[in-house]
Amino acid sequence: MDPRSSCSLLYRTCSLVVVLCALHISIMLVFCLRDTGTESDHAHRHRHVHRIPQPRGASVRMNTRIATTVATTTDQQELERCPEVSPLLVGAVRVDFSQKVNLTEVKHNPQLSDGGRYKPRECVSLHKVAIIIPFRNREQLLEYWLYNLHPVLQRQQLEYTVYVIQQDGEDTFNRAKLLNVGYIEALKNYDYECFVFSDVYLIPLDDRNLYHCFKQPRHLAVSMDKFGYRLPYNQYFGDACAMSKEQFLKINGFPNNYWGWGGEDDDIYNRLSFRGMSISRPDAVIGRCKVIRHERDRLNEPNPRRFDQIAHTRETMDSDGINSLSYRVVKIEKDKLFTRIIVDIGKP
Ligand SMILES: *[C@@H]1O[C@H](CO)[C@@H](O)[C@H](O)[C@H]1NC(C)=O
Repeated sequence: MDPRSSCSLLYRTCSLVVVLCALHISIMLVFCLRDTGTESDHAHRHRHVHRIPQPRGASVRMNTRIATTVATTTDQQELERCPEVSPLLVGAVRVDFSQKVNLTEVKHNPQLSDGGRYKPRECVSLHKVAIIIPFRNREQLLEYWLYNLHPVLQRQQLEYTVYVIQQDGEDTFNRAKLLNVGYIEALKNYDYECFVFSDVYLIPLDDRNLYHCFKQPRHLAVSMDKFGYRLPYNQYFGDACAMSKEQFLKINGFPNNYWGWGGEDDDIYNRLSFRGMSISRPDAVIGRCKVIRHERDRLNEPNPRRFDQIAHTRETMDSDGINSLSYRVVKIEKDKLFTRIIVDIGKP
């Protein structure tokens, strides 16, 4: 072949390639720009949906809740996620048990719906918390608790419900079993991710003591007045704690067979440590708490078997816990400030 003609052929081929490349790049550019446009639009529109927990096999009720949330938030305003640290916190709070409390104002809160369920108005909470209180015959203490805790939990921008789990009948009290019941019953209502288990007489003295869950199980009653504002011992896990669903299930929940006062909190501590978890705590200032003065219930005598039981947590924890829980719901009552679940949990 003539070298000149082959050269001109090469020249024409090259030009064609350049033109094709330019065409290709422009088409790519057009599509790229259009794609990012629709993608961000798409993400924007669906942001609200992702904030709502969608349990496996979401029920019809869940779906309506998602639908209404999306509708209200897009109709009215774009709700942002709440900040990591709530701007509403004030630090130390004053607590007074010298006179009867008036719950009228606490109840008069439009964000609070029946059964003691609260959702912040200003942002989408990062924490969906079920507060579980084991209970019997302590109505006045409960009023103090509700009066003091609702405002604190609201300043912490939690989405929460207060469940009072009341042991029916006159048999010996069983705190840990009631807590297990609270876990199960709360999950029947809503897809909580976090559970705070608190005794009714315990009031935090600082609203920076956050009633939500952490990477490790959280102990909340860190420096109590009754112990001279110190931990009684390092492994102490009593009075109030917060655990995620995952942490709770990892230890098979709490023991069901600690009837009477004492021991169950140490058993729970053992469970956590046998499953390789450690305790997270606020510092001793933020963790200050007060115990509302009360007399020991005559139906909650110290459990004489507790030391023997604590010594055997390792052998018992897999067969005694949330997987062996049995009880019967007697009645569910919805107050404005809490849901009361009266349960028959049997006897020792
Ligand atoms: C409680 O407070 C409300 C309003 O703050 C008031 O109207 C009511 O009389 C009070 N109740 C008692 C028993 O003091």
